[in-house]
Amino acid sequence: MCGIIGYVGKKEASKILLDALELLEYRGYDSAGIALSAEDKSSCKLIKCAGRVSDLRKRCKEADVTGDCGIGHTRWATHGGVCDENAHPHRFGKVTIIHNGIIENYGELIEKYGLEQKLYSQTDSEVVAAVLSHFYEGDPYAAIRKTVLKLKGTFALAILFDDIPGKIFAVRNVSPIVAASTRDGAILSSDVAAIVPFTSQYFVVPEFHVICLSKEGIEMFDLSGDKANIDWLTVDWDVSRSDKGGYPFYMEKEIMEQPQVVGDTILPRIKDGKPDFTAEGIKDSTLSDCKRICVIACGTAMHAGLVGKSLIQAMIGIHVDVVMASEFMYNDPVVDKDTLVIAISQSGETIDTLEALKFARKCGSPSISIVNVKGASIARESEHVIYTCAGPEIAVASTKAYTTQLAVLYLLTARMAMARGLWNDEKLNAYMKELMRVPDVMREVIARKDEIHHIADTMLNAKDVFMIGRGLDYSILLEGSLKLKEVSYIHSEAYASGELKHGTIALITEETPVIAVVTQDKLKSKELSNINEVQSRGAKVILLIKGEEIPEQEKIWNSIFRLPVMADEFMVMPASVVLQLIAYYVSADKGLDVDKPRNLAKVVTVE
Ligand code: AGP
Repeated sequence: MCGIIGYVGKKEASKILLDALELLEYRGYDSAGIALSAEDKSSCKLIKCAGRVSDLRKRCKEADVTGDCGIGHTRWATHGGVCDENAHPHRFGKVTIIHNGIIENYGELIEKYGLEQKLYSQTDSEVVAAVLSHFYEGDPYAAIRKTVLKLKGTFALAILFDDIPGKIFAVRNVSPIVAASTRDGAILSSDVAAIVPFTSQYFVVPEFHVICLSKEGIEMFDLSGDKANIDWLTVDWDVSRSDKGGYPFYMEKEIMEQPQVVGDTILPRIKDGKPDFTAEGIKDSTLSDCKRICVIACGTAMHAGLVGKSLIQAMIGIHVDVVMASEFMYNDPVVDKDTLVIAISQSGETIDTLEALKFARKCGSPSISIVNVKGASIARESEHVIYTCAGPEIAVASTKAYTTQLAVLYLLTARMAMARGLWNDEKLNAYMKELMRVPDVMREVIARKDEIHHIADTMLNAKDVFMIGRGLDYSILLEGSLKLKEVSYIHSEAYASGELKHGTIALITEETPVIAVVTQDKLKSKELSNINEVQSRGAKVILLIKGEEIPEQEKIWNSIFRLPVMADEFMVMPASVVLQLIAYYVSADKGLDVDKPRNLAKVVTVE
């Protein structure tokens, strides 16, 4: 997704902008650019290109531009192809802007303001610059107010006016902007990762509020022009987690961080050995009164929701729907005051999840969000938020965010059982004791990473990899399959192993790699039969099994990884780490850009 950055202060802006754009690269992009305001009120200097930030850096060096106030952008194409003209920033008249989001009515605006022959790009963003220029007669706030009232869609805009050097204006609707005062000025960005090096205090710009950054700091106004108060937040991320820490890729580092961050997520929410959400202000009634639960999320976060569904339905006995957020509103969802909605999102900015949450709240549903980024839109939109303590997750492929989301779901399930009087102390204590073992069990798996690397090497040249399991094992594999395909580009499909013979088994041929997970006692015998079915058709079976369940003499596998033993409902955790490492090693050994896979963005802020 597009990344935006703005800086004004006493330092050389181009260097700060370029360094910050590198911190935003993980969001995914295809072109980049910066603009610097000119103190003599001449046109802002603008440099942009398709390609990487490193290409932009070269162009800036050649252009030898300097300045102490500027904006920068990494573009993930939505309207118009990848080319220099479509890169941001965009200029029109005295106005220069960068934009993250989608303007749905840009066609109408082109017609309304007679822009047909006046545009040089195919982007909706350039149209915003033109409309801003149309309204700009010297008062930036008036021009911004009139413009945003004409826009339909999502936007985070950072704006320079040629004749107001040294000032950056910004306004948003849905797409994120965070901002902070620095020692010598001010900075804004799409997300906290880019401003962490400059400050420990930041704020999330409220929607339809205009901020003005200058060397003196930041002012904020609502659209009627009244000054507005700023709600400051503290960066509680360990900045050292924002670099690779000696690992070749962030993905490996973040996989290795999981024992620590899962512990960081669990421990503060255990009081006297019991799960406790007092700090989050979640009353037991919220967990005991709901008649059903609806989880809304995308991608990996949705897969975490599937595990939550298994836990809650098995242990609490209420129905849980897990709905992909992009489908939620279009399938006439039945949510009401008796439906507890749980929105799960690492970034807290995924627009599909945010819009689905807003819809559910309009239906009267109570809501809890599980979010990693403090102050993110989804956190602010929900009644309650439980923050995972994964720290900044830079790799596009989500790993530690997933397992910390699971950690929260394990805690929430236990609290729900307490709130409903379902568990006695003995059962609760046994469950919590097992939950507290998770970090060490993850360490056990990580200690055997070379074994896992050998397994990964068996599928380096695979064209297709199937993954089969039932129940919770199937949920585990849906996530494992997404990991493999998004970082290795190998087609992978997780399949409920009982469903396989209803068609898809036709695709299993000699040497097709099939990863099977067997961790649930109640499902083991059927899962083993399904493994026999694929093996008898020539599949190369990679078996991830709980402990010593099958003796060597009944060998039905080509490779095996015996997982450390936990209670069945917790086996997700060790199994997930194995599948994450398999995906990682395949991608790294194929020489791919593990952290920034092609076409992908870390935060999807377009629907
Ligand atoms: C998973 O590895 C991907 N990064 C992607 O599926 C991601 O989980 C999804 O886009 C949801 O993002 P969120 O958790 O920030 O809402």
